[in-house]
Amino acid sequence: MRSQLSTLALLGHAAATGATSVLLSNASAIITFDAETEALSVLRHGSVLVNADRIDKLYEGAAHNRVPDNTEVVDCTGKIISPGFIDTHRHGWQTAFKTIGSNTSLAEYFGRYGEYVANVYYSPEDVYIGQLAGLYEALNAGTTTNLDHAHHTWSNETSEAGLKATLESGARVVWGYTFHNVTNFTMSEQIANFRDIMASFPSNNSLITPAMAYDHWASNPYGKDTQDIMALAREYNVSAMTTHYLGGPWDNANSPELLHTLGFLNDSIPCVFSHASFATAQDAKLLRETNQYISNTPESEMHYGHTHEHSYDMMDQMALGEDTFFTYSTDMPTQARIWLQSARYQSYNQIMQQWEIPPYNPMSANQAFLMATRKGALALRRPDLGIIAEGAKADLLVYDGRSPGMLGWVDPVAAIVLHANVGDLEHVLVGGEFKKRNGKLTVPGYGAIQDRFLESALRIQAAFRDTPYPVLEGNFDSGFPFVQAREADINPDNGTGYGELFV
Ligand SMILES: *[C@@H]1O[C@H](CO)[C@@H](O)[C@H](O)[C@H]1NC(C)=O
Ligand SMILES: *[C@@H]1O[C@H](CO)[C@@H](O)[C@H](O)[C@H]1NC(C)=O
Ligand SMILES: *[C@@H]1O[C@H](CO)[C@@H](O)[C@H](O)[C@H]1NC(C)=O
Ligand SMILES: *[C@@H]1O[C@H](CO)[C@@H](O)[C@H](O)[C@H]1NC(C)=O
Ligand SMILES: *[C@@H]1O[C@H](CO)[C@@H](O)[C@H](O)[C@H]1NC(C)=O
Ligand SMILES: *[C@@H]1O[C@H](CO)[C@@H](O)[C@H](O)[C@H]1NC(C)=O
Ligand SMILES: *[C@@H]1O[C@H](CO)[C@@H](O)[C@H](O)[C@H]1NC(C)=O
Ligand SMILES: *[C@@H]1O[C@H](CO)[C@@H](O)[C@H](O)[C@H]1NC(C)=O
Ligand SMILES: *[C@@H]1O[C@H](CO)[C@@H](O)[C@H](O)[C@H]1NC(C)=O
Ligand SMILES: [Zn+2]
Repeated sequence: MRSQLSTLALLGHAAATGATSVLLSNASAIITFDAETEALSVLRHGSVLVNADRIDKLYEGAAHNRVPDNTEVVDCTGKIISPGFIDTHRHGWQTAFKTIGSNTSLAEYFGRYGEYVANVYYSPEDVYIGQLAGLYEALNAGTTTNLDHAHHTWSNETSEAGLKATLESGARVVWGYTFHNVTNFTMSEQIANFRDIMASFPSNNSLITPAMAYDHWASNPYGKDTQDIMALAREYNVSAMTTHYLGGPWDNANSPELLHTLGFLNDSIPCVFSHASFATAQDAKLLRETNQYISNTPESEMHYGHTHEHSYDMMDQMALGEDTFFTYSTDMPTQARIWLQSARYQSYNQIMQQWEIPPYNPMSANQAFLMATRKGALALRRPDLGIIAEGAKADLLVYDGRSPGMLGWVDPVAAIVLHANVGDLEHVLVGGEFKKRNGKLTVPGYGAIQDRFLESALRIQAAFRDTPYPVLEGNFDSGFPFVQAREADINPDNGTGYGELFV
């Protein structure tokens, strides 16, 4: 791993000759990574030299006098430098739904906001501007890499609009063109569109890599579509294949076991299984043997009712993700925090049920931090991401260590996982370029983009206001019955009831 990274460092250095470099100087703490021990470490009072898109050198102290002449020095006194976060499951186009699904369930989501029904509301413009605004939202929150399960692929035009926004965003995105059984756009048309896109894929954009998403493994394992998809993935050697794996009563069992049976799992293409709450012991074993990952999206799974049946038992092959960020928080430290506390809860609960007392805490902030950074990179087989080490990509975050919420920290990892918020994040760099600086996105004309997005969002939200909610009775598509979960009662004498949604 180390030799691989230092070779990358040399290549990066050579390519960058003559380019301006940036020194993030004199930080209070830099959260670095040692690939040999596979562990975080902290460099106190240090500096990071960025050359082109890579981390060139780590120094102790301010290091102003030890860097090339053309270096821009950014004073980071009092600050914490962290690697950028990696979100391994996101649907970037859904930004316009913000707050209108605050109470949605998964069954309702499928019938109202999902890829098979939302197409009637979305023009290519809506996809473009929703995806762009959504990626800026992620960058603002310190997510520098996304695995986008891009299921806005409803026509040539909506597919290309989403990709255009992705290319323009400046984020690092593994962009998963989704192949699905949707109205008015057949699988063979989708394949033709994908081939078109690949033929004209810009060679000057190193941040976006083409990937694929496909959810019909289980519904159609031996059919032509699945064969075509596997062949296409191999033909283009895509940077990832991702699939929703629900399992349990949800069905949609796009499992590691199934992909292994089909001969696709044990290969050089990274496979990322989102959710995987009902994964089996055999799935976990296969993930380990083939070094593939699940993407746990803790807030999503708790919100929607995926639950976490066996997620706690397979954290070694797990990265974290956001999923449908319109329904809840959009930042990865919040996902890490929710997962950390729910994993602790689960672990405690096993002994508390037997009236036993835990003397020590079963999970650390350090582990949660790695899940939002390094583990995401490993899921994508990108050892050059999610870490601060010489030779790694310069995807870097600078936190204000003197913010009211962080003041007093000594452990920078715990400060970020447990105390930071998005407003404490001052600078975000992707591939050595500032995407957020002094607390503001560096996007030229961002105001006009906001206006354009709001125009689209207001139109979509108005259409949803006029759309009745689906009636959910009898059985879910999988054949399992709908049974209402006990509703919360927050007022003991006279319940306020469910209350109003202000949409
Ligand atoms: C570096 O940071 C320390 C505090 O961490 C500060 O005392 C010192 O003045 C800073 N040095 C420079 C050159 O900014
Ligand atoms: C969410 O609230 C709306 C408005 O009260 C209601 O019609 C809808 O059924 C709710 N959705 C769920 C899944 O409970
Ligand atoms: C595609 O979806 C339609 C409508 O839901 C369904 O009738 C059809 O069987 C599906 N086709 C495949 C190949 O899954
Ligand atoms: C599919 O095409 C038909 C015919 O053009 C059109 O009436 C219908 O609205 C389209 N459906 C969707 C979801 O775009
Ligand atoms: C979509 O693109 C494909 C591939 O270029 C092309 O064959 C097809 O005609 C296009 N469809 C439409 C509706 O323009
Ligand atoms: C790549 O080239 C296109 C077309 O010349 C240009 O519009 C775009 O800005 C370039 N992108 C990058 C990242 O340099
Ligand atoms: C596919 O790409 C990966 C990553 O670049 C590479 O390691 C692998 O050898 C390639 N596989 C094939 C079959 O070309
Ligand atoms: C995966 O492939 C490797 C190399 O071909 C082989 O040694 C290994 O046994 C395979 N693992 C599984 C689970 O099939
Ligand atoms: C309970 O609340 C309802 C609705 O606000 C109200 O009509 C009713 O009088 C209340 N009942 C009691 C016992 O306070
Ligand atoms: Zn999803």
